[in-house]
Amino acid sequence: MKDEKLKLLLGGEEIAGRVAELAELISAEYEGRKVLLICVLKGAVIFASDLMRRLKIPVEIDFIAVSSYGSDTASSGVVRILKDLDRSIKGKDVLIVEDIVDTGLTLNYLRKNLLSRQPRSLRVVTLLDKPARRRVEFTPDYCGFEIPDYFVVGYGLDFNEDYRHLAGIYVLNPEC
Ligand code: IMP
Repeated sequence: MKDEKLKLLLGGEEIAGRVAELAELISAEYEGRKVLLICVLKGAVIFASDLMRRLKIPVEIDFIAVSSYGSDTASSGVVRILKDLDRSIKGKDVLIVEDIVDTGLTLNYLRKNLLSRQPRSLRVVTLLDKPARRRVEFTPDYCGFEIPDYFVVGYGLDFNEDYRHLAGIYVLNPEC
């Protein structure tokens, strides 16, 4: 951790502004309905809690944990459920809340898995998207920011479990 360098990419205020915009959009599109947020642990926990407090519609939350990159920054391509949802999603309007879409493998798998549980609807909101890194086709329904192929930390995102607490989003070890 000590030799790692961080360069600010998105400040806390910029993130808060965009989260508020996303919440407005989602509140308008789900008007008259209750939405079930499914927060993908651990990275999306800060985004999900900020988004949830901005929504103007009835909202529930549940959590799912899937295997991630472990101690490396390269995707293994293997997705496994480490902690499943507490309750059934059958007939519910489900919105998966993710921190970042990279290769698309995680959300591609999660979408298929959750669709088989027969929700009324299923959409995905991600705070960040790195479209240049896709290995499978995946387009989120709502996205906060598209970013280049950087490894980023902060606002819930980690490197070996460090940096999740930072208010902004930083590029880890930028080349310049
Ligand atoms: P995907 O399956 O490759 O799309 O990866 C999704 C997951 O990889 C995210 O939920 C993150 O946990 C992790 N991830 C991908 N890119 C980054 C990054 O730049 N910083 C931190 N975690 C990342």
